[in-house]
Amino acid sequence: MSDPSAFGPFAILRTAADLSGRVTRWRRQGRRVALVPTMGALHDGHLALIRAARSAADRVVASIFVNPTQFAEGEDFDRYPRQEAEDAALLAEAGCDVLFAPPVAEIYPSGFATTVTVAGLSEDLCGAVRPGHFAGVATVVARLLLLCRPDTALFGEKDYQQLAVIRRMVRDLAIPVDIEGVPTIRDIDGLALSSRNRYLSASERDIAPALYRILGEVASGLAEGRDAASLCDRAVLALKSAGFGSVDYVAVRDAGTLDPVSRLADRPLRILAAAHLGRARLIDNIGVDPDSAS
Ligand code: PAJ
Repeated sequence: MSDPSAFGPFAILRTAADLSGRVTRWRRQGRRVALVPTMGALHDGHLALIRAARSAADRVVASIFVNPTQFAEGEDFDRYPRQEAEDAALLAEAGCDVLFAPPVAEIYPSGFATTVTVAGLSEDLCGAVRPGHFAGVATVVARLLLLCRPDTALFGEKDYQQLAVIRRMVRDLAIPVDIEGVPTIRDIDGLALSSRNRYLSASERDIAPALYRILGEVASGLAEGRDAASLCDRAVLALKSAGFGSVDYVAVRDAGTLDPVSRLADRPLRILAAAHLGRARLIDNIGVDPDSAS
């Protein structure tokens, strides 16, 4: 293990006042500050964001906050993994300077009454099956950005719709921050790393990489000039025969606006999917470039 002290003292802060004091000091010293918001249970995908943040800025803040407002009734808020000591060690080793790990009352003080809703984008795809989810995400991310006031904030392409919602919110509200997307980190067999993969049994874990493989088949079909709707229908059937339970969606969208598209076009596309496997709901997505036509 490398020596965490090589990166300077690592601190855990729990209050908005401490965080804002620390960041204000850094900014007065002319330091560029990056924020990486997470819900903890960190894996190499999260750590890739920390590493990207280190190259984008002089100081890196990671937050760990299991945000109650983005979980619906009956979702996994209570059993979402919480392992702060282990996470803090990983962050220190990856070169993070500050872990912001606030209690709920620090993010949602009594009387908190505001919700940020990004209309349209938030109601589609994952938003259609998780009503209110992206409002919870947008609200907590807006609050974290305004409490921390970083120069840049980094989010994974793994949660592609979330990244699109956050980009739109930041633009619409003129929040002064650069949003940077980081490519998805995968296991050797293609499965996108996720804190929720631990819900998979051994046999489900063997089935799970089919999601990424099937997204790749949709991409090849688009490159051959086939139409998106029939490729997505076939992908749903392929997921089910691979052993997935219900499939929330497989969709081909414009990579920027997430508007539906019907076939390969002269602009970047994104293929996105969400499907259930045992107790887990897995999501994944891949990009398709305009010049991929075969
Ligand atoms: P969480 O699921 O903990 O993810 C934190 C960040 O890590 C997100 O930006 C997510 O896209 C990124 N990430 C997760 N798995 C990844 C992977 N395999 N490769 C690359 N990046 C990955 O997303 C959230 O938390 C929350 O919704 C949050 C934004 C913190 C708001 O509560």
